[in-house]
Amino acid sequence: MSVYDLTGRKALVTGGGRGLGEGIAQALARAGAAVVIGDIREDLGKACADALQGSGATADFVPLDITSEASWERAIPAAIGILGGLDIVVNNAGIEITSLLVDLDAEDARRMLEVNVLGTALGIKHGFRAMRPGGPAGEGGAIVNVASVAATIAFPGIAVYSATKSAVDRLTRVAAMESGKLGYGVRVNSVYPGLVPTEMGAQLAQDVATLGLFASPQAAVGAVVELTPLGRLGEVADMADAVVFLASDGARFITGAGLPVDGGMGM
Ligand SMILES: NC(=O)c1ccc[n+]([C@@H]2O[C@H](COP(=O)([O-])OP(=O)(O)OC[C@H]3O[C@@H](n4cnc5c(N)ncnc54)[C@H](O)[C@@H]3O)[C@@H](O)[C@H]2O)c1
Repeated sequence: MSVYDLTGRKALVTGGGRGLGEGIAQALARAGAAVVIGDIREDLGKACADALQGSGATADFVPLDITSEASWERAIPAAIGILGGLDIVVNNAGIEITSLLVDLDAEDARRMLEVNVLGTALGIKHGFRAMRPGGPAGEGGAIVNVASVAATIAFPGIAVYSATKSAVDRLTRVAAMESGKLGYGVRVNSVYPGLVPTEMGAQLAQDVATLGLFASPQAAVGAVVELTPLGRLGEVADMADAVVFLASDGARFITGAGLPVDGGMGM
């Protein structure tokens, strides 16, 4: 069996209702994992789980607001009940609200901090509690956090978002250290996706043009491609395959790492 094979593994993907999370759930399932999608949008999450089931995968949906402790306390036991265990947690859910710093709205900033930083931190917390020895799924595992190329470059219009993704990077490293030191048996890594034209990515291109930073959304996309040695935007599958790798035994000696999946944009 390939070291990248996930047959028998049980995964929870946050924000799996659309975009990168949906692609990550599909890629994990293709690699053999059983997958539970956790999302604040029940309509999207259920549809995605249904589609996965239709393709023959073991998949289901649990409601999850990653910013809420109570929501995690319901979602993790529900996922373990459905899957019969838990080995992989992908902290993918996140939000982006574009703004120049000079026009920053405090509520928008708080919301991004809450979802991207607190939500990811709670995902690590509850993933650890479930997967560490003595936990309800206590056989160790892997956590993969979705940061962003924005954590590694300075792109105008996304200052607070970028700060939250730098925070995800630090959370990842400290989590890996605590897990190692305390014998949790859980590897913790992150990916830094480049721009992908999901709903979030397309909206970002629109918003930076509206702010006057680029002549048009197409010009914003063109500027990103220009900065990218591999000469194209990212695709959902590019990100999803990297997450599968970090979740698999192929990455068994990798923890505390941030993997750029950005065509070289952030190097
Ligand atoms: N698209 C890009 O260009 C890009 C680039 C780098 C990083 N990322 C990161 O990838 C991740 C996914 O982005 P995407 O482009 O798929 O975004 P998206 O907006 O298309 O999808 C995000 C999903 O997360 C869910 N979600 C939002 N808030 C939630 C909450 N509080 N609890 C649970 N679920 C919640 C949404 O319902 C949605 O299904 C995000 O963390 C984003 O920051 C995206």
